[in-house]
Amino acid sequence: MYKLHSSLLIGKGLHRECYIHPENSNLCIKIVVAGCDSETLREQAYYEFLEKHNVSWKMLPKFYGNVETNLGFGAVFDLIRDYDGEVSKTLEHYLSSAEETKFNSCGLSKAIPSLKCFLIQEKVITMTLKAKNIVYKRINYTEGILLIVDNIGNSDFIPICNYINFFAKKKILRKWQRFESTLLATYPHNKMLYRMLTSSHR
Ligand SMILES: Nc1ncnc2c1ncn2[C@@H]1O[C@H](COP(=O)(O)OP(=O)(O)OP(=O)(O)O)[C@@H](O)[C@H]1O
Ligand SMILES: [Mg+2]
Repeated sequence: MYKLHSSLLIGKGLHRECYIHPENSNLCIKIVVAGCDSETLREQAYYEFLEKHNVSWKMLPKFYGNVETNLGFGAVFDLIRDYDGEVSKTLEHYLSSAEETKFNSCGLSKAIPSLKCFLIQEKVITMTLKAKNIVYKRINYTEGILLIVDNIGNSDFIPICNYINFFAKKKILRKWQRFESTLLATYPHNKMLYRMLTSSHR
């Protein structure tokens, strides 16, 4: 049984707490602290589906199963870190600050369309895409990639998009469109973001 302590806590959402794995600093353990387990089961079933279909893990943390901890069962994933070892911060963090967006604008303006391409190419279905559920992994001083750390999968009763490419692409594009609109509405004063999302050479 793994012992988790507040010193290992690196992030917290509405439902889960995310801790550094006590025995492997490149993994994290997520503990459900609010709500029911159905979301977790849905997420894990979707991870199994992706594994079976040999999807690339380039922009998704890999899932390694569940373990017992002093706080109950937890799900083990890759812990995303920057090139300098820092735990990667969320896209929300970068977009909330004009300086951070500006400083990373070169990397972000490439990473955003790359994530879109990845989702389409690998046919990864997401629930609502949110900036707090995406981390920006800095791979050097000026470049980085985006990874979705939460809310992937399909909640449709009959998940036809998981099997038929045409519908998958349509769904991914629709989700992406909504994501971009939400970003622009959430950060109306972030001119750099506006430029990144509306530039003609995308
Ligand atoms: N694999 C990871 N690598 C690095 N940081 C992570 C990872 N997973 C989660 N985090 C951090 O922990 C935070 C909370 O994790 P997560 O989004 O899974 O919790 P949640 O409660 O399910 O979120 P929500 O409020 O969206 O339901 C994230 O916003 C992010 O900052
Ligand atoms: Mg989250």
